[in-house]
Amino acid sequence: MATNPKQIFDLNRPEKRIDGIAKVTGAARYAADEPVANPAYAYAVTSRIAKGSITGFRLDEARAVPGVLDILTHENFGKALEKQAMGPDGGPTTGTLNDARIWHDGQMVALVIADSFESARAGAYAVQVDYEEENPTASFDDAGALPELSSTMAGDNPHVGDAEGAFASAAVKVDAKYSTPTQHHNALELFSTTCAWEGAKLTVYDPSQFMAGTRGATATSLGIDAATVHAVSRYVGGAFGSKGPNPRTAWIAAAARRLGRPVRFVVTREQGFTTATYRAETRHRVRLGASRDGKLVALQHQGSEICSRPSKYKVGGTDATARMYACPNIKTAVSIVHADRNTPGYMRAPPETPYMFALESAMDELAVELNLDPIELRRRNDTQKDPVTGLPFSSRSLMKCFDAAAREFGWSKRSAQPKSMKDGEWLVGYGCATACYPANAGPAAARVTLTPDGKASVQLAGHEIGTGAYTLVALTAARVLGIPIANVSVAMGDSDLPPVVIAGGSSNAASTANVVANACEKIIARKAKGESGHIEVYEEFVPQGMSPKSMVEISQGKMSLQGGVGRKDVTAFSFGAHLVEMRVHERTREVRFARSVSAFAAGTIVNPLAAYSQFMGGSIWGISSALHEHTEMDRRAARYVNENLADYLIPVNADVPDLRVLMIPEDDTRVNPLGIKGIGEIGIVGMNAAIANAVFHATGKRIRDLPIRLEQLLEA
Ligand code: MOS
Repeated sequence: MATNPKQIFDLNRPEKRIDGIAKVTGAARYAADEPVANPAYAYAVTSRIAKGSITGFRLDEARAVPGVLDILTHENFGKALEKQAMGPDGGPTTGTLNDARIWHDGQMVALVIADSFESARAGAYAVQVDYEEENPTASFDDAGALPELSSTMAGDNPHVGDAEGAFASAAVKVDAKYSTPTQHHNALELFSTTCAWEGAKLTVYDPSQFMAGTRGATATSLGIDAATVHAVSRYVGGAFGSKGPNPRTAWIAAAARRLGRPVRFVVTREQGFTTATYRAETRHRVRLGASRDGKLVALQHQGSEICSRPSKYKVGGTDATARMYACPNIKTAVSIVHADRNTPGYMRAPPETPYMFALESAMDELAVELNLDPIELRRRNDTQKDPVTGLPFSSRSLMKCFDAAAREFGWSKRSAQPKSMKDGEWLVGYGCATACYPANAGPAAARVTLTPDGKASVQLAGHEIGTGAYTLVALTAARVLGIPIANVSVAMGDSDLPPVVIAGGSSNAASTANVVANACEKIIARKAKGESGHIEVYEEFVPQGMSPKSMVEISQGKMSLQGGVGRKDVTAFSFGAHLVEMRVHERTREVRFARSVSAFAAGTIVNPLAAYSQFMGGSIWGISSALHEHTEMDRRAARYVNENLADYLIPVNADVPDLRVLMIPEDDTRVNPLGIKGIGEIGIVGMNAAIANAVFHATGKRIRDLPIRLEQLLEA
């Protein structure tokens, strides 16, 4: 008996967060809040050069700071780890304390351990490091930038037909270059780790999107059995791809072992820019060829991304852009360019945010060339079949999203001609873009217990990364078991609980709701057979098409997700549409977001209240991506210069006066048993392009390089 999602989930049944009170009263414990006995504190010394090597340390002054217990450098601590921590792609990454080499500015070069945070910081300020300095390479175009072709890297570059030939003979063409800047996470919760040993047993309090991954990676780096590591992460204050297995944890665990005392390390806001991952700077060339009636005949997308020297991490993104529209001839390629930078990594919709900016801007340029409404252009090229593989989409309600959003927005009032709409001194522009995100799921296990008094407890090593995951689990169990949500208790964020795949790739709801629903179904079935008393069920869910081995792999900390283009039967994406009104002041060129309507179809929505917040938060991040965020660099020093929340711009309430979200009902019977497609990342995707397209419509000036700034519009 499988749960029918329509009988338990309802767009009209929102649930408030079960942990809302704990969060607003401060009772919710984040990793660095977890009490440990007698902790020492670590503070990092970071490199002031971006390339070269350390020739020596002068530590006398630092050692003399009261409270300083130990100073760890590569000279006395370089061999502390059994195996170097790996980068986001599982390959080599920039080193930290292991040797004298400097890979990037702000690299961790020493750890000062002290009785208090203040002593550790004072000690760190007193450490003097001598360097042999070389000229660094900051980015694309700088001397020493080293391109690496995608053919030498893992991953697909979707390709079908003869894109070059079809483009050459196309009636209407767009050939344009776009770029997106370096961006940094800046979650409210800083990066942190706290490590405590009890004999051979290690407890790690780390904000983590992947409990088994944090346990596994830490054990591997230390060369110990994963069974002796216990990772705990009850709440995460913003993850978005940045919180999980990382090179810092094992170093702090080794420091705690050496000291014989727990060590807590909270990375400062500034140091978070260089000791954690971030969104890579990207460049794109998109070529679109179409017939006169607006049908795509050729699509080429070449992407290029900045990476560190040793890593081969790339986000890619052409897997998505190659699938957006019907087109018989497609060619894509992604390459990376090595520079003297820290290794980038995942950041909300890592591939789609930059790559869809390029594609959806180019689609708008094509609509202008064709003298066609941009929504109509997307309608003419809509498809229910993956244009690369020919597989059906598990479901695709893209045009339903555009139509619903257009009605709510009043799109019919748009006059086609750029620079033709005005309100007083403000030029007004309407723009649109497609949003998409792969519908992923992964293996998950859960233990559910129902007691005779009608109370249930659910245990799983799931992750509350701020998305409402506790509530989602409680809601699912309550609805299937037919009990009040207040009667369900949920334990998560603990690697000793049944393993759950990473809370990433917008997969968490699909993975955890399916396993919890199945477990609760089994309890109902046992009750129906007359069983009473205490009923406990342990259940495992492995998405259709994934090997049962993947359940074991995730328990070992290997990332194992499936969705998007990875399936043999369907291509699975969520889709959406952003419609935006922008205003640009006629004389000052001040750029203002005025309003937006975004519609999303993402299969079954488990909790419409949480979903609304996810879509809204994602869309606001899209505004940020278009108009605000940019990690500025001093290119001579290859150094980030706005590494703080005062200078790193993000939107505030006044920047988002009117943002509406529509949820379009969608039954997807193929994606997974409950039809859940994921909502965490799609909101950000395409919003940047919709804004740039609206700015073009307002001013007639096409901005192809984000973020959009007043000075780019001065001549418009
Ligand atoms: Mo997400 S960037 O997959 O946490």
